[in-house]
Amino acid sequence: MRFSKAQNIEDLRLVARRRLPRIAFDFFDGGAEDETGIARNRAAFERVRVVPRYLVDTTRRSTSAKLFGRSHALPFGIAPTGLVGLGGHGTDLALARAAAAADIPFVLSTAANTAIERIVEAAPDHTWFQLYFPRDRAVCEDLLRRVGDAGAHGLMVTVDVPLPSKRERDLRSGLLAHSLTPSAGLAFDLLTHPSWSLRMLRHGQPRFENFAQYLGPKAGAAEYAAFLGAQIARPLDWDDIAWLRERWQGPFLLKGVLSVTEAKLAVERVIDGLVISNHGGRQLDAAPAPIEVLPAIRAAVGEDFVLTLDSGVRRGADVAKALALGADFVFVGRATLYGAAAAGGAGAARAIEFLADELDRFLAQTGCPSIEALRELEIHTGPGHGHGSGRVRE
Ligand SMILES: Cc1cc2nc3c(=O)[nH]c(=O)nc-3n(C[C@H](O)[C@H](O)[C@H](O)COP(=O)(O)O)c2cc1C
Repeated sequence: MRFSKAQNIEDLRLVARRRLPRIAFDFFDGGAEDETGIARNRAAFERVRVVPRYLVDTTRRSTSAKLFGRSHALPFGIAPTGLVGLGGHGTDLALARAAAAADIPFVLSTAANTAIERIVEAAPDHTWFQLYFPRDRAVCEDLLRRVGDAGAHGLMVTVDVPLPSKRERDLRSGLLAHSLTPSAGLAFDLLTHPSWSLRMLRHGQPRFENFAQYLGPKAGAAEYAAFLGAQIARPLDWDDIAWLRERWQGPFLLKGVLSVTEAKLAVERVIDGLVISNHGGRQLDAAPAPIEVLPAIRAAVGEDFVLTLDSGVRRGADVAKALALGADFVFVGRATLYGAAAAGGAGAARAIEFLADELDRFLAQTGCPSIEALRELEIHTGPGHGHGSGRVRE
């Protein structure tokens, strides 16, 4: 598959697969254990059927949507993805710029390879920050101060990483061992992708730049990896969340909630909203697909609480399905990452264009002149999807 021929996100994935060495592609593409979560995310979207309505004038259509009072051109944004420098130098920046150009939110990961200050410079009106709560509270307070000073719009606190998950592709490749054991397989992998390898040699291994100032100028890749491992993969509780909430004034979302009970508690604890997510199938392999639990969570928290969703979105129609089933906004992780890995900034932009075009076609096909109208559609979901809306039929 050539980039110029790509027609959808899966095509961009195939270009990325050819372009990246396996060790990098597998990190982007893979998930936990048997990777049934990844498959479930797709199957759950595919099960959702939407009854079209044609006798509505949709000549003029709008895809714009609001997130915390801020209007965006599209109802989706780019989810936080760490260590994307593996795809190429400057990938965080390429994603942030593509998001700003398309007028959609970009969420920078704590584990990014570009510091928050540089990202906000490049995308001042579109940057959010994802927080992995560092164990060291002084580091955390300083990081929050920097994120606020830089001007990030909101905070997503990731709760679904109580420990590093078992990602077997990465364990096999040696990526998660934090030291690349020189093996014949790896050498072949790198030699057969010489342009990637040369770029990596020129720019050096990607580092976790949000932490650069806490580690000092001499720290190498291994120190960074050890620091990150010690600081962020850990269980959180509601006291941690309250501590963070007190220190962040702007929009505050919990990312990774899938349970109705925890969603209700989030409302009580004055959290502003959720990202219903199973981390793209990268944490608990047995977790339900977010789209399956969304209707029940919406029913439990009421209409005013902000619900966003990610995991498994590969088509504009998936964005529409999530909005129709009760989400206010949607995020994509791999979709834009495959684009960036396939062709840098142009590839990320192409991924956004595919999703936007497919979403617009979906609106026309279902008689929806606006994003709000999606909520009126008749939706059929298969068994497994939670109940919660009168319009949803199994
Ligand atoms: C390569 C990669 C790195 C990720 N890194 C992070 C991260 O640093 N923090 C986080 O909260 N989620 C991270 N995620 C999860 C995404 O934010 C998002 O939940 C997931 O990608 C959504 O699923 P999708 O890829 O099917 O769209 C990562 C996902 C991928 C694919």
